[in-house]
Amino acid sequence: MELGIKGKNVLIVGASKGIGRAIAIGFARENANIVAVARTEDLMKEVRDEALAKGAGSFEYIIEDIMVCDTKVFAQSLIDRFGVFDIVVHNVGGSLISRDPLGDGEAWNYALKFNAVASIDMNSVLIPPMIEKGWGRVVQISSISGKMLRGNPLYASAKAFLNAYVESVGRALAPKGVVLSAVEPGAVSFEGSYWDKFVKEGHPRVNDFLRHHQAIDRFGTPEEIADAVLFMASEKSSFMPGAVVPVDGANM
Ligand SMILES: NC(=O)c1ccc[n+]([C@@H]2O[C@H](COP(=O)([O-])OP(=O)(O)OC[C@H]3O[C@@H](n4cnc5c(N)ncnc54)[C@H](OP(=O)(O)O)[C@@H]3O)[C@@H](O)[C@H]2O)c1
Repeated sequence: MELGIKGKNVLIVGASKGIGRAIAIGFARENANIVAVARTEDLMKEVRDEALAKGAGSFEYIIEDIMVCDTKVFAQSLIDRFGVFDIVVHNVGGSLISRDPLGDGEAWNYALKFNAVASIDMNSVLIPPMIEKGWGRVVQISSISGKMLRGNPLYASAKAFLNAYVESVGRALAPKGVVLSAVEPGAVSFEGSYWDKFVKEGHPRVNDFLRHHQAIDRFGTPEEIADAVLFMASEKSSFMPGAVVPVDGANM
């Protein structure tokens, strides 16, 4: 299938490892021009080398912490340096935050910023020039937790908020040529991931989780998530604005 991604300018926020790295390599295989953001320079150099070897038209990395910087100023600096992006993927997020359901506003604000609002703030700068061009794709990496509302309550709630943002704002952007969407991964395992540690320890939680919560009875791979992200970032998602797409091994 021709995705029409070749030569497109792509920004991936959170691209040094795991799902974000697989997304970067997926875009490299499609010969995209990639700007990748994360905090760990050694990892970003590895991703750059692999991406260029696999066909990226160009690959630049920026070391930045989006929980610390002014995200609007940062987004504008990226446009000033690299031009308007055709495609943006927001991958930063995670459940390794406070799990206290009665946590205070600070804990909830952190969960929301990490999983949703930092990227939403960047979108306020990144999306208007896409609208001017009449074409754009923005893919938010959500989680099936945002639909099932299980696990860490702060994480699940933050991803549910992100899903609501995508569905409502996606609708508002639909007539403007910009497809805002989300991909909801289920449990994904890779070297060094949350689940990888339990798998290596032979923890009984793994089999219990797979049997009761993953109908497919295995973890997903970062590449299986990346394939869906590439589709949503492509010409082929033109009739899918505001879509929130589960890629979760039939979570239950
Ligand atoms: N893994 C799963 O099973 C799973 C399931 C459902 C949903 N998801 C979602 O998928 C996304 C990726 O998950 P993952 O497991 O691949 O996560 P991960 O291994 O923790 O990777 C996150 C990426 O974001 C970067 N990052 C983290 N904090 C950052 C910050 N403050 N500023 C800039 N970059 C930052 C990390 O690089 P540095 O550390 O180098 O900055 C890394 O490249 C998340 O949104 C997560 O909620 C994952």
